Amino acid sequence: MGRIKLFIILQLVYLSSCMDQLHIVYEWKQLDYQFPSEEARKQALESKSFIPENNIPMGLEVYEDRLFITVPRWRNGVPSSLNYVNMKDNTTTSPKLIPYPSWAAHSTGQDGKPSEIISPFRVRADKCGRLWVLDNGKIGNLENNTVKYPPAIIIYDLKTDNLIRKYVFPEDQVKEDSGFANIAVEDMDCANTYAYAGDLGKPGIVVYSFDKNESWRITHHFFHPDPLACDFSVKGNNFSWTDAIFGIGISAPNPDNFSTLYFHPMSSYNEFAVSTEYLRNQSIADDNFEAFKVLGSRGPNAQSSVSFVDPKTGVLFYSLVNLNAVACWRTSNKDYKMKNQGRIYMNEETMVYPTDIKVDYDDNLWILSNRMPIWMYGKLNQSDINFRVFSAPVLDAISHTACDVTARSDILDKYKNKFLNITNKIASKFQPSAGASISPVTFAAILCSWLIASILL
Ligand SMILES: *[C@@H]1O[C@H](CO)[C@@H](O)[C@H](O)[C@H]1NC(C)=O
Ligand SMILES: *[C@@H]1O[C@H](CO)[C@@H](O)[C@H](O)[C@H]1NC(C)=O
Ligand SMILES: *[C@@H]1O[C@H](CO)[C@@H](O)[C@H](O)[C@H]1NC(C)=O
Ligand SMILES: *[C@@H]1O[C@H](CO)[C@@H](O)[C@H](O)[C@H]1NC(C)=O
Ligand SMILES: *[C@@H]1O[C@H](CO)[C@@H](O)[C@H](O)[C@H]1NC(C)=O
Ligand SMILES: *[C@@H]1O[C@H](CO)[C@@H](O)[C@H](O)[C@H]1NC(C)=O
Ligand SMILES: *[C@@H]1O[C@H](CO)[C@@H](O)[C@H](O)[C@H]1NC(C)=O
Ligand SMILES: *[C@@H]1O[C@H](CO)[C@@H](O)[C@H](O)[C@H]1NC(C)=O
Repeated sequence: MGRIKLFIILQLVYLSSCMDQLHIVYEWKQLDYQFPSEEARKQALESKSFIPENNIPMGLEVYEDRLFITVPRWRNGVPSSLNYVNMKDNTTTSPKLIPYPSWAAHSTGQDGKPSEIISPFRVRADKCGRLWVLDNGKIGNLENNTVKYPPAIIIYDLKTDNLIRKYVFPEDQVKEDSGFANIAVEDMDCANTYAYAGDLGKPGIVVYSFDKNESWRITHHFFHPDPLACDFSVKGNNFSWTDAIFGIGISAPNPDNFSTLYFHPMSSYNEFAVSTEYLRNQSIADDNFEAFKVLGSRGPNAQSSVSFVDPKTGVLFYSLVNLNAVACWRTSNKDYKMKNQGRIYMNEETMVYPTDIKVDYDDNLWILSNRMPIWMYGKLNQSDINFRVFSAPVLDAISHTACDVTARSDILDKYKNKFLNITNKIASKFQPSAGASISPVTFAAILCSWLIASILL
């Protein structure tokens, strides 16, 4: 009994003081771009090839000194759909976006078609120094005049920024309703690399082999949206989305050298997994439908969009759309249950629609939030900060959560120190004005009894 109480008290202390350890690195009210000149920017605004309020950051990736930001062409007036900011430049926290790899790659011809990159949602920098860009190919899907180009994977060399390859998906792998938003890259072997592109419109995964320069389409009933999980509510905007496969996170290689792909449809409460052994060959996937596993449920209201597996700690990070939160689960934990899920960050102002999650090669967690449902169904307040990039070392972000990888005694020590530090601080604040001194121990006792009282009453 006593141990349970102590446990509850510890949990409460964690919840109140130790989580949400991310800090905001960048924030924007509106996006702006580094045009070649002020004159060019003025012209773009006049010709409406740049309409600031139509630009929303959707995807992020971090590689060395660059933070990449995608801006899909859902509406007119997006001058460049793949960009970066130079993280060495610390003169501003609202930097202008620099088109990647160049303005020329985004410049539109007479027909309105950008020359190299149409409209990517998410990108991935692999450990071999290549940037994988999953190009959705659609322009203006929120306007009346959607133009569709074939989706593609575009690969750049991050050392030289040269185009390595552009692979256009074959027609039979792209369906009428297809929408390719998320990409995972299995890069254990830099030559024999595989990319997995999720189709949220028509349930499926297109698998691309870099070595063979070939792709194939895998289907499975676990890729489908759950009709009972299609209602969303974000900051008073209620909407219904029937999105299929969305979050795809790839683990480090297992002992058999295949990774595990963790995946979920957006309109679903469940998480699933499959070994990439079954994805690397279409007929093997078809013959082994039972190799796809249901891990469990996150619980009601817990639909998730993007997800990412940190290969070092094996922690799966994922967004919780309705809860304005990012959560985590340790993939080494066999039970995918609500109680094994940790809360990384939750905030009704700053974390509205966490849209992308990555871990960089220096073990920092990165999260982008963009208030997308408000942008889509209402109107963003242009005087308010709407887009934010959060970061923290992975170990800090997961400490004191259910995903903590440090030993339990470590956690207890940390808790003890932190708790004493806090009570010391509070006690020292009390002393001068109150005149009477409260020792830290007394203060800790008061806090504890208050906590116990609040649990028991
Ligand atoms: C900005 O970066 C420079 C060089 O990296 C450093 O010397 C300077 O202290 C930094 N300024 C701030 C405000 O962090
Ligand atoms: C699309 O067309 C309808 C009817 O013509 C119009 O009311 C609406 O404003 C248009 N939407 C956009 C985004 O242009
Ligand atoms: C990859 O395949 C596509 C067609 O499927 C072809 O256009 C392209 O040239 C190939 N690239 C390489 C590097 O083989
Ligand atoms: C939106 O959904 C929430 C939760 O499902 C509900 O409480 C609220 O009444 C709904 N609002 C509207 C305007 O329908
Ligand atoms: C996995 O790959 C490593 C390095 O290529 C190799 O040495 C090892 O034998 C492989 N293991 C299996 C089970 O294939
Ligand atoms: C896929 O697996 C089947 C059955 O094992 C095999 O016959 C076929 O050659 C494989 N295809 C590829 C492209 O490796
Ligand atoms: C817009 O944001 C600004 C800055 O946060 C705030 O002062 C203002 O009240 C907001 N306007 C509306 C209509 O919410
Ligand atoms: C508590 O304070 C001590 C000394 O001021 C410091 O070394 C320690 O890191 C702090 N612990 C925590 C958890 O903040």
